[in-house]
Amino acid sequence: MSLSKQVRKVTTHVLSEMKLRGEKIAMLTAYDYSMARILDEAKIDVILVGDSASNVMAGFESTLPITLDAMIYHASSVVRAVKRALVVVDLPFGTYQGDSKEAIVSAIRIMKETGAHAVKLEGGRVVIGSVKRILSTGIPVMGHLGLTPQSIYKFGTYVVRATEKDEAGKLVEDAHLLEKAGCFAIVLEKIPASLAAKVAKEVKIPIIGIGAGSEVDGQVLVIHDMLGITQDFSPRFLRRYHNLFQEIKDAVQSYINDVRTIDFPNKKEQY
Ligand code: KIV
Repeated sequence: MSLSKQVRKVTTHVLSEMKLRGEKIAMLTAYDYSMARILDEAKIDVILVGDSASNVMAGFESTLPITLDAMIYHASSVVRAVKRALVVVDLPFGTYQGDSKEAIVSAIRIMKETGAHAVKLEGGRVVIGSVKRILSTGIPVMGHLGLTPQSIYKFGTYVVRATEKDEAGKLVEDAHLLEKAGCFAIVLEKIPASLAAKVAKEVKIPIIGIGAGSEVDGQVLVIHDMLGITQDFSPRFLRRYHNLFQEIKDAVQSYINDVRTIDFPNKKEQY
């Protein structure tokens, strides 16, 4: 392939350069080949194969039930579609928290069996052993602090996190710990914008926000939420760019009508 036709791939290094230049990073989730192809062609910087697949793909109430095998299935489908974006895969609940040896085995399975470029996990100090162990094998790690959905039963609610001084202080400390350990970026979910801005200023690695205001280095949303495929999830931070639920429903109803009235297929649509 000629040099001019080569795609400049987004790497963890590219993301840190973007932070240095003050260029914002755009990240979205994807869980399957077809959607990942669209996102990659649109030039999204990072595709997250999030464990939100548990909710939006499998219909579970939380992210806890999704298995490592299911994440590997989704991630390998995404990777087959991607030429340019950095693909990050969530380590699912129960595959890294208990034991750093288990964490390394889980991360290696993801990298080997999917071809993804990095893993993401939730938490700071409590999982720092796992973070370091995974990093020691050369696997890039993205952190995730604030409203960490794998801890939803501990929080008991989806309200904004770190509004109190103690929790905010711990979050800042965790962000520094993750940076020091060698994480290449951190997601901050549903925390006050002023706190996210402080973290983004203090640490050198990119901070990607979801419900964390604009003074961070990039944004992430769940693709089904921003396209309006999901309807029953409307937090303040979510901007809907479409109402695909309604558009798909209308299209399906038109199809049903066309089949029933024998309008489809017409003469041109048969052999
Ligand atoms: O699983 C996911 O989709 C996530 C994003 C919300 C950051 O972790």
